[in-house]
Amino acid sequence: MFKNSIVTVVAILFLGVAIGAAAQQTPIQELGDEIFEDQDLSINNNQSCASCHDDAWGSTGPDDFINAHGAVYEGSIAGAFGDRKPPETDYATLSPILHLDKGTWVGGNFWDGRATGEKLGWPSADQAQGPFLNPKEQALPDPACVVQRVSRSSYALLYEEVFGDNIFTIDFPPDTDALCADGDPVPLSEGDRAKVDTEYDNIALAIAEYEAGPSERSFSSRVDAARAGMYKLTKQERRGFALFKGKGKCRRCHPSNGMLPAFTNFTYDNLGVPPNPENPALLVDPTFRDPGLGGFLEARGELEEVWQAELGKMKVPTVRNVGAKPTPESVKAYAHNGYFKSLKGIVHFYNTRDMKPECPNPLTTMEDAIAQGCWPAPEIADNVNTSELGDLGLTDEEEDAIVAFLEALTDDFF
Ligand code: HEC
Ligand code: HEC
Repeated sequence: MFKNSIVTVVAILFLGVAIGAAAQQTPIQELGDEIFEDQDLSINNNQSCASCHDDAWGSTGPDDFINAHGAVYEGSIAGAFGDRKPPETDYATLSPILHLDKGTWVGGNFWDGRATGEKLGWPSADQAQGPFLNPKEQALPDPACVVQRVSRSSYALLYEEVFGDNIFTIDFPPDTDALCADGDPVPLSEGDRAKVDTEYDNIALAIAEYEAGPSERSFSSRVDAARAGMYKLTKQERRGFALFKGKGKCRRCHPSNGMLPAFTNFTYDNLGVPPNPENPALLVDPTFRDPGLGGFLEARGELEEVWQAELGKMKVPTVRNVGAKPTPESVKAYAHNGYFKSLKGIVHFYNTRDMKPECPNPLTTMEDAIAQGCWPAPEIADNVNTSELGDLGLTDEEEDAIVAFLEALTDDFF
């Protein structure tokens, strides 16, 4: 009893501090926020990080139509598409550097872990260097373009306050704007190139600090409030939590223990998610299948036996903010390819994947599969987890209770 009340007091204090701080970002977090929202940091000055990671949508993609279909967002260049759904960004900052723990891969950012954290010591900082230069995202040709645009942005003075004035001493060629707009590399002296690299690292670190800051990673859901004794979960939410921990086996990969749980253990798994028939990558190449972690490990030269065992595995995402959306009618997409269009749909899949027959058409949407009483074959058949999901024996009300619990994980209590 005594111990519990101490825990509660500590939790209330912690939440109090977190709430107090929410309004107050540190300068580096504020800077990261500016960079995250800056559309000029894309080749056509039309796309920022926030274009695909919108707070009101739990830092995922903010477009009902796209979410309802391919779930993959167009880049700064019209017609350029990647092949995955934008995941949540804020709690991804808790992921450790990619490593092997007793034979299990843990950590990293991206669905396949390729932002390992080995470069800047933090997966989310490594990650933040990707999108600006990804031809299917912000599509700038050279880190120098990003650094120059930051150096003359409206928040340049804030940048100076945080990282000093070295950024203003870089000698960019007079035609840098044209080179960046045309997608050409920027020629620089060795010294200036080294400075660009340093500032580009700083930019990435500022972004990660913002994502991890109190305005974003706020731990302010009803579930957190309930832990701190400031809110009482509804009966259905409590039932959902019990099922999440017990019969649903969710906690095995989305752990809920500890004071401020991440609701992911940052490992990788192949749930046997079907291909999304409307994935633009699949429309271009009908043989496209997403190899996940295995594909990344193969690309970085791991032994065949190592990467084969990871084919089709995707990083376990947090389920915090998974229910966050601007209106109850808004459509979100779930899993790496956005196959699922509702939380009920994905929970029903966990519950019944192995109980229903295989759909005759391997490219059947979630809605059609549910109507037909089948599930399509997995996108990647290797390494599918058959021991922790697929036949959970949950009733319809139990599925609904789990959904209600997931919705109580939205950061909207404070
Ligand atoms: C065109 C849409 C788009 C833009 C623009 C974009 N992202 Fe993403 N983001 C994605 C997609 C898609 C993924 C998953 C890609 C993958 O796993 O290969 C992703 C993954 C991430 C992740 C990894 C989360 C995790 O769970 O591992 C973070 C963090 C992130 N983005 C932050 C950013 C930042 C910072 C920027 C701006 C510098 C940005 N994104 C710009 C679509 C976008
Ligand atoms: C064996 C590990 C494992 C178990 C058990 C598990 N999950 Fe997951 N979960 C994952 C992985 C891996 C993904 C991503 C799969 C993919 O994209 O292909 C995921 C994705 C999700 C998503 C989509 C998140 C997003 O951002 O798109 C939700 C929601 C979810 N899980 C909820 C649950 C619930 C509810 C349960 C229990 C009924 C559960 N999970 C059990 C590993 C697991």
